[in-house]
Amino acid sequence: MKIDYLKARLTAELCSFFGNDFKRIEHALEVLNYSEIIAARIGGCDNEIITAASLFHDLGIKPAEEIYGHNNGKLQEELGPAEARLILNGQGFDKAKTDIVCDIISNHHSASRFKYPELEVLKQADAIVNKLHNEL
Ligand SMILES: [Fe+2]
Repeated sequence: MKIDYLKARLTAELCSFFGNDFKRIEHALEVLNYSEIIAARIGGCDNEIITAASLFHDLGIKPAEEIYGHNNGKLQEELGPAEARLILNGQGFDKAKTDIVCDIISNHHSASRFKYPELEVLKQADAIVNKLHNEL
């Protein structure tokens, strides 16, 4: 699957998942933007994993708020992977890469348990975007 086509398909899924929660959609798009820049600089990353993990890293926020009335990093890590897997399976995304994306989502708010370079890229991109927004 061509990477640009994948990005469009997964962005459409992101928008349909979050509906009119534009703040979450914008956040994910910004994180993807920084992830791509960082990944290009360090090299050795898989672009499909970068795209899926960046766009879907915070999917767990929605079920967390629906079930518990709030969300935090731990709940995002717990509830996000199943949502991402459902969407990625529906898109015919590579199974082995889906497992890695889910590992990354399950670990993006805590000390790294995995050695994927894409996990560190996502953490850095997420931190940059959150810092920029906190400073505005
Ligand atoms: Fe985030």
